[in-house]
Amino acid sequence: MFSKSKSNYLLIKGLIFIFCNFCNSPANAKEGMWIPATLKAHEKDMRSMGLQIPVEQLYNKDGTGMNNAVVLFGRGCTGEVISPQGLVLTNHHCGYGSVQGLSSTEHDYFADGFFAKNINEELPVNGLTVTFIRRIENVTDRILAGIDNTLKGAIRDSIIARRITAAEKDIKASTKMDAMIKPYFEGNQYWVAIAETYRDIRLVGFPPNGIGAFGGDVENWMWPRHTGDFSMFRIYADADNKPAGYSKNNKPYRADQYFKINAGGYKEGDFTLVYGFPGTTQEYISSYELKQVYNITDPISIDARTRKLDVWTKHMNASRDIFIKYTSKRAGVANGWKKWQGEVLGLKLNNATGKKEQFEKAFQKWADTSKEYPLAKTILPQMKEAASNIDPLITLDQYNKEAVLGIELIQQGAELGKLLNCFRLNLDERALRDTLTKVVNSMDGFFKNYDAATDKDVFMTLMVLYFNKCDETLPPMFESEYKAYGQDMKPWAQDVYSNTLLTSKEKLMSVITKATAADSAAIIRDPAWQLYNAMNDHRKTILPQLSAYYTRMKYLNRLYTQAQMGMNKKKIFYPNANLTLRTTYGQVKGLDPDGPAKYSFQTTLGEAVALDDTTQEIFTVPKKLKELYKKKDYGRWGVNGTMPLAFVASNHTSGGNSGSPVLNAKGELIGTNFDRAYEGTMSDYYFDPNRCRNISVDIRYTLFIVEKFGDAGWLIDEMKIVGK
Ligand code: ARG
Ligand code: ASP
Repeated sequence: MFSKSKSNYLLIKGLIFIFCNFCNSPANAKEGMWIPATLKAHEKDMRSMGLQIPVEQLYNKDGTGMNNAVVLFGRGCTGEVISPQGLVLTNHHCGYGSVQGLSSTEHDYFADGFFAKNINEELPVNGLTVTFIRRIENVTDRILAGIDNTLKGAIRDSIIARRITAAEKDIKASTKMDAMIKPYFEGNQYWVAIAETYRDIRLVGFPPNGIGAFGGDVENWMWPRHTGDFSMFRIYADADNKPAGYSKNNKPYRADQYFKINAGGYKEGDFTLVYGFPGTTQEYISSYELKQVYNITDPISIDARTRKLDVWTKHMNASRDIFIKYTSKRAGVANGWKKWQGEVLGLKLNNATGKKEQFEKAFQKWADTSKEYPLAKTILPQMKEAASNIDPLITLDQYNKEAVLGIELIQQGAELGKLLNCFRLNLDERALRDTLTKVVNSMDGFFKNYDAATDKDVFMTLMVLYFNKCDETLPPMFESEYKAYGQDMKPWAQDVYSNTLLTSKEKLMSVITKATAADSAAIIRDPAWQLYNAMNDHRKTILPQLSAYYTRMKYLNRLYTQAQMGMNKKKIFYPNANLTLRTTYGQVKGLDPDGPAKYSFQTTLGEAVALDDTTQEIFTVPKKLKELYKKKDYGRWGVNGTMPLAFVASNHTSGGNSGSPVLNAKGELIGTNFDRAYEGTMSDYYFDPNRCRNISVDIRYTLFIVEKFGDAGWLIDEMKIVGK
């Protein structure tokens, strides 16, 4: 107990202050996802944390920078080029969809993995693309010239949209590449990404789920982690090394820039830098909006999904067939479900809304007297007013989306709407039948992975939730049905699921092949269509008010972000994530949520093998991997008899950063990013250096799996490995 004297107390307080400042010094962790073209401003800071190369090596508009070795993989992940022959490394979960398309019962790559033994065995993936960002430029002056702060709404939007189209066209013509202009800082700046998209991408290596998805949903969003979440692809190009559609004459892309791989490891405190495409963050919003996430949308989604996942799990455990149908859907639904739980926890532990409110007080004080930003003083009051009566609508619509539209049958009702539209096209009999059949065929994916009995159970569960929570403002049809069935979900569900055409493709086809006007009546009578339609009409009554609110907030947030930057001119602000190329830097750093150093910064293969449990698919370590472990047959990649597997660092990443290269102080690849730690997922709203960690596969584990498990040492021969 400190109570000796005031001066002693102050002295100690001073020492604690200095010490804590030291332990929270910039060297600890770094908030921010920076536009690579602006890295010069951080060079000193990065150097003080350990960076050893000039920032021009990281990004350079002359075409020599490492940005040319990073790709947007597919539509929402990141990948890195790791050989002069266009070999790309990304996550297992980023390659999952592509591999699903290539898998069949004869070739079950999820169970067995896939490693091409030579270049001829690489498998083309239909529809997969990778995009390089060659250059990034600030085009704010061109886009916003003459547009002042007070211009808002549709007029502002349409002028800007027109200018963007024109500017993109000019830049495309002069660069012979793609150009994409996006708003940054909530529309206070505009930047163009000059890009090339390659369209012939082939699968090279994919470990089985027992490695690449090890730990499944149980370990998802958590540290410690034991997932070898990687896969490999190759970019193919035409004779000029330019993008082209698939052709067997295409050649591996010749990469001038690719990452050297450092297999020498790292230690805690080492500098790290992550390059990639984070999707969405909202770091500068008001407490009013953060409270909506914290109090409304996250909790409702968590609650609805908990119920749905319980039902799914029950049915999946009872039948292997249902398990296979629902496993991928389950992963998607559970991914958000778990992330939001971590987010709510992190926001709570940090009192994030309280801190926002505190900041808002200071902001208001500044704004009240600011001459430079005359609009600033009314921003927060206007936000408060806008948000004051919107919560009930946000609540209702979140239940509409997560509860009602979370029922597969009702969501699929939309497809029946498409069929109905076909009847309105005045087609002749044959054309009508063709069009109808096309729509039905487009639903193949749904039918293939649908189990009506499972969904019926979900219907009963989620409708109860919906009626309990939204009893005052329901779609009228829902009310009358509910009444008609004596407020009993069971007979209602029974009728819906036995009368709909959507429970099997055959049932739907039997009606569609006849294709007369009477069949359109059958569709109109379909309960799935009626429920979907009723929900749609109901949402139409609330969406105008909701979107007016969001439009107003968007306008106010543009001013608010601008004013926050004006209030603190010394601070370098980073723009919210918008699926554009960013760099974030930090350091290798352990995470210790429950006290004394329970978790370190690294996991090992031995720890994964200790979790082996052949009664649970997600914890079944492949036999061959266990044998390699037993023999300690790690090749060059082990360290004194242990095989490093994953590690954590303090880089500010987000969804979309999956597959991102994690670089050391020399810009060499030490790992592939794939996730964040549970109590730090709130970093999309609030970054706490003590809790936010990105999780990566150790590159040595990747190389070990490729060489020893996949017998694909030929791939390693094309890489440039240092540090060994
Ligand atoms: N949490 C990771 C990210 O958001 C996804 C990891 C995929 N694994 C899984 N079990 N769903 O994308
Ligand atoms: N797992 C995420 C992704 O797929 C990464 C993250 O949210 O940290 O992009």
